[in-house]
Amino acid sequence: MHYEILKFSVKGDHSGSLVALEKGADFPFEINRVYYIWGTEKNIVRGRHAHKKLEQVVVCTAGSCDFILDNGAQKETIHLSSPSEGLHIKQNVWREFTNFSTDCVVMVLASEHYNETDYIRDYDEFLKGK
Ligand code: TYD
Repeated sequence: MHYEILKFSVKGDHSGSLVALEKGADFPFEINRVYYIWGTEKNIVRGRHAHKKLEQVVVCTAGSCDFILDNGAQKETIHLSSPSEGLHIKQNVWREFTNFSTDCVVMVLASEHYNETDYIRDYDEFLKGK
């Protein structure tokens, strides 16, 4: 499967916790875009696409949700519930995400600028590219 779970280094003391993500040792690619998603109802399914070139690290900064990753041969569900973990989704992986807690905030760090031509939104087309 083309993903890995990154465990971030947490600076924590009595005042709370902090994670810093920097290009290089801490992070697998140069970040060109950040976006975040919140206010999605529990049973909504988002995503439903793959990317040709783009890689992402997804962080559930509050609450929890499930990512269902599919490489064309196998599917895995990854439950994200910690701001100290990042789900690194590599190229050409079909992703859907759902099961949002009401307080869920998903932050996505992306390797590329937004580019609709990088999306594969048709599942059969995704499978044909495998
Ligand atoms: P979409 O990629 O379909 O969201 P998700 O995969 O989370 O279900 O994007 C939703 C809308 O937001 C769509 O109109 C495209 C737009 N959008 C941007 O303008 N810039 C971005 O960086 C992203 C990710 C989406």
